[in-house]
Amino acid sequence: MIKEVKNNVFYFDGCNTVELANKYGTPLYVYSENDIIDKCNELKNCFINKFNDVRVAYASKAFLSLYMCKIIEREGFCLDVVSGGELYVALKAKFPADRIELNGNNKLVSEIEMAIDNNIGRIIVDSLNELDIIEKICKIKNKKISILFRITPGVNIKSHDYIATGKKDSKFGIPLDEDVIFPYVERAINSEYVNFLGFHFHIGSQLHDNKPYLIALETSLKLVKEIKERYNFNVTELNLGGGFGIHYVEADNRRPFSYFIDPLMKRIEEFFNEVDIPRPIIVIEPGRSIVGEAGITLYTVGSIKAIKGVRSYVSVDGGMTDNIRPALYNANYEGIIANKANNSKKDKFTICGKCCESGDILIKDIKLPGPETGDVFAMFSTGAYCFSMASNYNKNLLPAVVIVNNGKSELIVRRQSFDDLIINDVVDNI
Ligand SMILES: Cc1ncc(COP(=O)(O)O)c(C=O)c1O
Repeated sequence: MIKEVKNNVFYFDGCNTVELANKYGTPLYVYSENDIIDKCNELKNCFINKFNDVRVAYASKAFLSLYMCKIIEREGFCLDVVSGGELYVALKAKFPADRIELNGNNKLVSEIEMAIDNNIGRIIVDSLNELDIIEKICKIKNKKISILFRITPGVNIKSHDYIATGKKDSKFGIPLDEDVIFPYVERAINSEYVNFLGFHFHIGSQLHDNKPYLIALETSLKLVKEIKERYNFNVTELNLGGGFGIHYVEADNRRPFSYFIDPLMKRIEEFFNEVDIPRPIIVIEPGRSIVGEAGITLYTVGSIKAIKGVRSYVSVDGGMTDNIRPALYNANYEGIIANKANNSKKDKFTICGKCCESGDILIKDIKLPGPETGDVFAMFSTGAYCFSMASNYNKNLLPAVVIVNNGKSELIVRRQSFDDLIINDVVDNI
């Protein structure tokens, strides 16, 4: 049991969360190592160990730290990075370079150079311009790198517009118009400097329905067949992206990975049995579904403002700086008062942050048992896209990150200090 209540206190992976708040301070990101490993094991059971020639590349944008790289390496997964910064962290963690893939719609020349210099496994190419850059760099350095093309399969999904990435009107990927995609592929197949493997798509995030995946898959299978017919070329890798939804609130129906993977793999096996092409390696890129539910954020309650007949605001010592998702795309969350975990919940409150923005609301209208200043509020499922999207707005400090495991806790990222806020400032004569 990752979440438990003992003596009216909320415990997370065996740790008393009130004690964690006292020991490490708040706001505090807390990750359950057991929950991350459980998710990895689920993926191994229903994907890695069930099918030949498949890989999982953890989308590190969801949550990245040196410690997280170590977990992913230990679990035998690959790592998807999207910037020089993420690549730097992975390399600093000594993550095997050949298991790293670089995504991104506008990779900088310096980022591509860094990827090639470090012999990473793959670059997922997003545009013709990028292919030009890769070829130029490889020519100068006398190297060859493996690539896939990210395609936009033209699928619309039921999710917030900002996390829907597979529709035609998207900044990501190469559209499938004949006069666009085929010249790219032909050039890549014949290139001296790239080893063309296949295609990648990522239709969006926080999905609870497998149908859009199957539609996108069908599009990419058609493309694989067309490539065989036009160029007599066998695609050897197909990357289906990430996007598997998690539980944030009651309305979210978190499906097991197999709900997505089984029908996808069934269709893939069926298709490649029908056509005269060997089945390519199949890769998935989950991020949120590996770390999202494994993370919680602990806050200390500060001021409480009851506006008669309107609303009661409960302010906490963090906010949109450590979790931008509610302000950015109306993301919903649940949570509890950790030191009053079993008290009956009577009235509704709005949890707000301390930033100078009216939109700095973390949870609207949550039922809580009479919050008081000094209480510890635990917000659930904050493991993905919170730490990684955190900012220093209002010069708030980035929180510390702690990993917990069967009652033991360890600091894995220290809290920023005020000195960190001016570390890059350059000014004479102070
Ligand atoms: C290319 C790509 N792969 C994988 C992911 C991970 O998605 P998720 O965290 O929803 O699994 C993303 C997220 O934006 C992405 O852009």
